[in-house]
Amino acid sequence: MELLDGKIASAALKQSLKQKIDNLIQSGKRVPHLAAVLIGDDPASHTYVNSKVKNCKEIGIQSTLITHGSSITEGELLSIVKDLNNRENVDGILVQVPLPSHISENKVTLAIDPEKDVDGFHPVNVGNMVLGLPGFVSATPLGILLLLQHYNISAGGKRVVVVGRSHTVGTPISILLSRNTSFGNATVTLCHSRTRDLPAICREADILVAAIGRPLFITSDMVKDGAVIVDVGINRVEDPGAKRGFRLKGDVDFENVKEKCSYISPVPGGVGLMTIAALLQNTYDAYIRRANR
Ligand code: GUN
Repeated sequence: MELLDGKIASAALKQSLKQKIDNLIQSGKRVPHLAAVLIGDDPASHTYVNSKVKNCKEIGIQSTLITHGSSITEGELLSIVKDLNNRENVDGILVQVPLPSHISENKVTLAIDPEKDVDGFHPVNVGNMVLGLPGFVSATPLGILLLLQHYNISAGGKRVVVVGRSHTVGTPISILLSRNTSFGNATVTLCHSRTRDLPAICREADILVAAIGRPLFITSDMVKDGAVIVDVGINRVEDPGAKRGFRLKGDVDFENVKEKCSYISPVPGGVGLMTIAALLQNTYDAYIRRANR
């Protein structure tokens, strides 16, 4: 078994982006700028956004972090987004979800200028992705494609099983891997909570993508010998013995599945790091597109 190591693959991508940004600085140009909006006090959201900001800094992307308590109104958040849309020196905008329940995530997503929507959540970008047109692919599915590419794993002609049909991961990765592109051409099955005989379908997978959000859900009896396993889950599992009181567990029972598969992405250290690297890539791309308008 070989690890699909997000540390190695994301470091390579970040190094190449850093080089491009260094070149911009040397030629006296403005650097790409990401604005991140964080509402409320969800600890996981704080961890993710802080990590996004830290990673921007590492490679020379400017970042602005806007935080508000969960009492902010929908109208106030929408005007923050509109202000960021109008700021000439902001290339990418992300509003971390989940948002407090009195704010419509859909309204906020729709308010972001699609040209700055580096999360790729706006319907214009989702539509472009489905049609194979230029746009932003959301960071987790893009990170998965980049991770497979780093390890020269092609999906072409293979049987891919995706477990989980979320808007942000399961649905887009199943579309992307089935498209007629250099990274696609797989035969994809998208499984969900109503799928009958899930273990049998999973056992047919040459590449299994687990994106259900349930710790250790994929067990070794659900995996074909030699399969490639991409674990998208980042689940906090209580553990009084751990420093922070919890441990991060993937959707895959890593310890048992690793004996059977050819490649597997660890949690932490796998897809999560690629998601951040993909966000940096999207921010750089947003900057280049806006500069070439
Ligand atoms: N919450 C969990 N993942 C994400 C993400 O990729 N983008 C945003 N905006 N919020 C998230």
